[in-house]
Amino acid sequence: MKEKLQAILQEALTATQSVQTQQEAEELKVRYLGKKGELTAILKQMGSLSAEERPVVGQMANEVRAQIETAVREKLEIIKEKAIEQKLAAEALDITMPGKSNKQGRLHPLNTVLDDLIDIFQSMGFDVVDGPEVETDYYNFEALNVPADHPARDMQDTFYLGENLLLRTQTSAAQIRTMKKRKPPIRIICPGRVFRADEVDATHSPVFHQVEGLVVDKGITMCDLKGTLEQFAHEIYGPETKVKFRPSFFPFTEPSVEVDVSCSECGGKGCRVCKGSGWIEILGAGMVHPHVLSECGIDPEEYSGFAFGIGLDRLTTTRYKISDIRLLFENDIRFLEQF
Ligand code: PHE
Repeated sequence: MKEKLQAILQEALTATQSVQTQQEAEELKVRYLGKKGELTAILKQMGSLSAEERPVVGQMANEVRAQIETAVREKLEIIKEKAIEQKLAAEALDITMPGKSNKQGRLHPLNTVLDDLIDIFQSMGFDVVDGPEVETDYYNFEALNVPADHPARDMQDTFYLGENLLLRTQTSAAQIRTMKKRKPPIRIICPGRVFRADEVDATHSPVFHQVEGLVVDKGITMCDLKGTLEQFAHEIYGPETKVKFRPSFFPFTEPSVEVDVSCSECGGKGCRVCKGSGWIEILGAGMVHPHVLSECGIDPEEYSGFAFGIGLDRLTTTRYKISDIRLLFENDIRFLEQF
């Protein structure tokens, strides 16, 4: 029996040496020391030994067990260390490698100008509201004092989507939606895309952007309109900018004006940006027509207001000296990267 124990010890130690993985080590432990292991099998035969031999063999068996356990434990430690070394080697960073640069996104120039514009009007107490791009005839025309047979419909070539549905030709539809929802005092702007069946050229696009403004309260006059829009022009173009109010016509405002600013490029002498006139037209405006107020349930005897519609694309092309409006819509990275 002593020989058997010796043989098992030798065998186990040799086997331990060739173990490569943690799993193999565990298996080996079970094979020799487990409940059905070889050492256990021998110990079960102890009963056949004499009373003198039993403690001697018992002690020897314990030593064999201890030696095998130690050998396996040491092997396991080596395996674990190797695994860690391998992992470290595999994950090592080569800090001399050139870095990967991430392309940085940036705001579209239209958004940069719009953000400025929103800042300016918010600081004057305006809320920003949103409106649908698909509108009904009622909000886009009829409630704005443009009945079905009104010649003013010819001012804007409309994309119709059906009998009553259309792509809004102006953000002015937001005036009606706001006045039907809110009670005065009202002070809002509504930026958004508008659509007109225009031929495409350097200054026209079938989709472009407006920012509508509306103020309704007791005692609002043309002075409020002038002061607000002058302030706006000075903040956008600089305090030395001249602002000109020209009489104009819109069915939903009375009186109506168009507003020009002195060309920031040439200071009014005339250049390519202002097409030689020295002035750049940036918006239409006027006092809200009494018909429009009453249509929205606001008493024109008690309240008055002014509205304006700013051409965002024009503001952007003149600020950045962009010669062709189409560049704003083509999303050519080489163009957009310049802002
Ligand atoms: N909606 C007009 C246009 O598109 C602009 C405008 C808005 C005029 C508000 C007056 C008041 O031309």
